[in-house]
Amino acid sequence: MELMELKKEFTKLYGEGEIRAFHSPGRVNLIGEHIDYNGGYVFPCALEFGTYACVKERADNIVNLASTNFDLKVSVNLDNIEYKVEDDWANYPKGVIKVMMDKGYKISGMDILISGNIPNGAGLSSSASLEVLIGVIINNLFNQSKIDKVELVKISQKAENTFVGVNCGIMDQFAVGMGKANKAILLDCNTLNYSYADVKLEDYSLVIMNTNKRRALNESKYNERRAECEEALKEINREKEINALCELTTKEYDSLESLIEKENVRKRARHAVYENERVKMAFNCLNEGKLQEFGNLLVQSHNSLRDLYEVTGIELDTLVEEALKAPGCIGARMTGAGFGGCAIALVDKSHIDEFAKTVKENYAKAIGYEPSFYFSGIGEGTEELA
Ligand code: GLA
Repeated sequence: MELMELKKEFTKLYGEGEIRAFHSPGRVNLIGEHIDYNGGYVFPCALEFGTYACVKERADNIVNLASTNFDLKVSVNLDNIEYKVEDDWANYPKGVIKVMMDKGYKISGMDILISGNIPNGAGLSSSASLEVLIGVIINNLFNQSKIDKVELVKISQKAENTFVGVNCGIMDQFAVGMGKANKAILLDCNTLNYSYADVKLEDYSLVIMNTNKRRALNESKYNERRAECEEALKEINREKEINALCELTTKEYDSLESLIEKENVRKRARHAVYENERVKMAFNCLNEGKLQEFGNLLVQSHNSLRDLYEVTGIELDTLVEEALKAPGCIGARMTGAGFGGCAIALVDKSHIDEFAKTVKENYAKAIGYEPSFYFSGIGEGTEELA
């Protein structure tokens, strides 16, 4: 929904008053998958599509939450915020509010209307987008915009970990909060040091392809993968003191791998260490305009997520395989947590239509339903709109 229309809806729902408007993007990760929680490098960017909010302050202690995407409206008393299954999407804003209140930040009543255009469950971080959105609203309305953006990112992750109960890493909230137009963020998840890289794709376009297989992070094997990585870390620590798997170079890892007892755990750890190296190479390739090599790294990343980390599945594998066979494509991989959701492809601009048509047909033939394609530019992080 467009912002003008959203403002009208807001007035219908909550009456007249001074409305403030905000936008928070979705994200894609170019490369560096399942290593944010292993202290590795990730390379995500914010999308142009995301979540809008219109907000007005109230004189009491009530936060009203409504969305144009869902019928469910939730009214929260700030004196008593708890997770409720039936509050569904509203648990994300509630979680952020709770974490911020516990940290002592000032919050009072508000009327909020949300409108998102990130496809839900597509792995493009609709939940992180909503979380950071609420953090920025609270910062701008009640805390004179004094809270550091990275602190808001950490609060959002904490809300998802402790309130919603999904043990995610920091990548999604960071990409959403700290994104910059036309730039990807190279983030060291160990230190939270980061730098921006120009995404100059020249004759190529980044195509986002949705398998249309829904995935939910808390239903997936996400937490199981995290536990397997922790197991590998413990075993490696018997010989070498490290805080996270991605502190190891590939050479160091190769010499320590035999300390890990179970084969599946060895595979997870191997992915993490080698993926981390690929991210650094991909960053250099992009900076040097070596797009074919960048594309090759995307493919290697996908293969590792398929064979070692085992988080792809028939839909993502088929989509990536068909993309790589289609005209104009120089690289493709799953993006996000996996188990469904989205993949990305780097495609020659002059072949885009043919590419989309071929992939759509062949994927539908193999899977039984069509994928969707999104052509988003790289957008700004969460911000208040003028
Ligand atoms: C999800 C999580 C992130 C990250 C990715 C996989 O998107 O929220 O923290 O772990 O999966 O790279």
